[in-house]
Amino acid sequence: MTDRKTAVIGAGFMGPAHTEALRRLGIPVAGILGADRAESESAAKKLGIPRAYGSYREVLEDDVLAVHLTTPNKFHFAMAKEALEAGKHVLCEKPLAMTSAETAVLVELARKTGLAAAVNYNMRFYPLAVEARERIRSGELGEVYSVVGSYVQDWLLYPTDYNWRVLAGEGGAVRAIGDIGTHWMDLVQHITGLKIAEVFADLKTVHPVRKRPKGEVETFSGKVREIRATEDVPVSTEDCGSVLLRFDNGARGCLWVSQTTAGRKNCLRCEIAGSGEALCWDSETPNELWIGRRDRANERLLKDPGLVSEAARAVIGYPGGHNEGYPDTFKQSFRAFYEFIAGNDPGAEPGFATFAEGHHEVVLCEAILKSHREGCWVNVKS
Ligand SMILES: NC(=O)c1ccc[n+]([C@@H]2O[C@H](COP(=O)([O-])OP(=O)(O)OC[C@H]3O[C@@H](n4cnc5c(N)ncnc54)[C@H](O)[C@@H]3O)[C@@H](O)[C@H]2O)c1
Repeated sequence: MTDRKTAVIGAGFMGPAHTEALRRLGIPVAGILGADRAESESAAKKLGIPRAYGSYREVLEDDVLAVHLTTPNKFHFAMAKEALEAGKHVLCEKPLAMTSAETAVLVELARKTGLAAAVNYNMRFYPLAVEARERIRSGELGEVYSVVGSYVQDWLLYPTDYNWRVLAGEGGAVRAIGDIGTHWMDLVQHITGLKIAEVFADLKTVHPVRKRPKGEVETFSGKVREIRATEDVPVSTEDCGSVLLRFDNGARGCLWVSQTTAGRKNCLRCEIAGSGEALCWDSETPNELWIGRRDRANERLLKDPGLVSEAARAVIGYPGGHNEGYPDTFKQSFRAFYEFIAGNDPGAEPGFATFAEGHHEVVLCEAILKSHREGCWVNVKS
C-alpha cells in the first residue's frame, strides 16, 4: 500500500482526525507537518508517524501521493497550489481558501493538472445523508419546495472563548457562515442536486471584542484550560446569523448559523420538503432519518444496511444498531478520494466535494456578506 502513502499538514484538531481515518483505510501516513519542527515532532511521536517534516518544501519533495491540508484557512490557497504544482493530489479542509479569486485559481489548476482535488465536506458521507440524496434522486420526495435548517454550536459563546477563526485575517471575512454554514450549504445542495441562486443575509457579531489568551489555544477542544492572561482583540466576523435562500428550481429556504447557542454542541439540521414527502436529518442523531407523509404515517428510518439504498449501503461500515458517526464520515470521504485516484470506476462522478464545489461555497460566502452589508437580495455568480 506504500504507493498510496500520504502526508498530513497541520497537527491540531483535524491533523490527528485525518491520520486516524487514513489508518482505518490502510493508507500509510508518511509524515506530518506542524507550525514548526517542535510541533511536527511532538505530533509524530504522539501519533506514531514515521517522519516529522521540518518544512512544507520537505513535504513536497517527499514521494507522497497526496497531501491532506488541515491548517488554518489562510494557508490553504498557497499550500494547495504548491502541492498541485508539485504533482500531488490534494485533499483540503473546508473552506477551500479565503476568497473566490483564490479558489478560482485552484479550480483551474486542478483542471489543468488532472489531479484529484477534494474539499473535506465530510457531512455528505453520513449514511442517512446519502440515503436522503438517493430518495430525492429516485423521485420519491417529488419536486423540492423548501429547504430549511441550521448549524449551531456553543463553543464560542463567551467573550473569553477564542480561536484563530474569529479573526477575518486568519479564517476569512465571514466566520460562522464560512466555518459551519458552508457545511450545511454543501450538504443540502449535494442532497437535493439544487444550487443556491440568491441569498438575503442578516448576520450578527455578538462579541465585537474577545479576550485572546496569551499563549496557545486548542481548537474546539471542549477541554477546561486555565487562562492566566488575556488581551482584548477586536472581532469583525459574525457569531450568528440567518440567510434566506432561493434555489435554482425556485425552491425557498433559510439557514440559521450560530456559534453562540448554549447547549448545542455541534448540531446540523436540515428539513427538505417536496411535493411527495419531506425528509429531516440531524447530525446529533445521525443514524435516524425522519420521513414525513401527508396521507399515511410518518417513518423514522434507522441506519441499517438492509433498509437503505445501494448508495447509502456503500458508506455503511457496520450493521444496524451499531452507531456510526463523525469519524466514520472522514473514513468514507477519504475512501471516495483514494478510490477516485485509483480510477476503480472510470468516468464515475467523485462522491467527494470537488474544488469546483469548494469554490461555489466561497462564492456563496461572499454573496452572503455582500447581502448583509447592502441589505438586499444578492445573485450568486459562480
Ligand atoms: N471537516 C470538518 O469537520 C472540520 C472540523 C474542524 C476544522 N476543519 C477545518 O480544518 C482546518 C484546521 O482546523 P483545526 O480546527 O484543526 O485547527 P487547529 O488550530 O486545531 O489546527 C491547525 C494546525 O495547523 C498548524 N499550523 C499552523 N500553521 C501551519 C503551517 N504554516 N504549516 C503547518 N501547520 C501549521 C497549527 O499549529 C495546528 O496544529 C480549518 O480549515 C478548519 O476549517 C474542518
